[in-house]
Amino acid sequence: MLIVTSVAAMQRLAAKLKVQQVRVGFVPTMGYLHAGHLSLVQRARQQIGEKGQVVVSIFVNPTQFAPHEDLSKYPRDLARDKKLCRAAGVDILFIPKDAAIYPPDFSTYIVEERLSRGMEGESRPTHFRGVTTVVGKLFNLVRPDVAVFGAKDFQQGTVIQAMVRDLNFPLKIVIAPIMREADGLAMSSRNKYLSAIQREQATVLSRAIQVAKATLKNGPISSKKLEAQIRKMVSQQSEARLDYVRIFDPQTLEPVSEVKRGTHLALAVFFGKTRLIDNGRL
Ligand code: PAF
Repeated sequence: MLIVTSVAAMQRLAAKLKVQQVRVGFVPTMGYLHAGHLSLVQRARQQIGEKGQVVVSIFVNPTQFAPHEDLSKYPRDLARDKKLCRAAGVDILFIPKDAAIYPPDFSTYIVEERLSRGMEGESRPTHFRGVTTVVGKLFNLVRPDVAVFGAKDFQQGTVIQAMVRDLNFPLKIVIAPIMREADGLAMSSRNKYLSAIQREQATVLSRAIQVAKATLKNGPISSKKLEAQIRKMVSQQSEARLDYVRIFDPQTLEPVSEVKRGTHLALAVFFGKTRLIDNGRL
């Protein structure tokens, strides 16, 4: 596995792979890798084949964190990440420095203005501007044919697909399914912050999605009613504080008044300072 830490070296390598017509599959991450990330690596490999090169980037992107969020506390373990990437068959690990991605005079951002407004965008107003900017930059540096993102960040995937379409990035976006722990909790680097009791109660997110699916089996239901049911479920967990629950059209991300098959549900719940998200198609 080749480890690349300079932006210029990554650009040179990407240019060389283009000339050699080697297909590149890309998995951007913020590190502290878990089985969810490794499933994205596998998916990238499936997409580009054995002759292709899988690139993983590790960059804890400061611009997607608000000043009060957990940037400095974001978990990091580069030694472990390198081992996991090597074992997963990653070809190139790109670990750029903060100052190389955001030099002091940096002043250009990518802003998606429709899909990024609600849900995560409401709770974290500067978040998606940071995500689209860094992902756009990473696409320019790595020049992948395919990039793989996890479905846990459903809105992020939708926003990135729009960015790729609107700005003509020449690559395909693949969204891979959510990886879950045995009890249903969606895998996340942030799960490690949970206390034992919070960890136990955190299954409320996936349980809410299961309850919504089961409720829908009895026929269409109003979104207001279902949201109230989920609010109640979350409020019954002593450690949980609901940030939002939203029922929406998966293409437009616009709220819908009636829940039908194919409607999407997303929720965000705080456990102390840790904020977890989950979503599912109903
Ligand atoms: O999903 C993430 O881990 C991040 O938002 C991403 C896509 C790596 C951009 O920093």
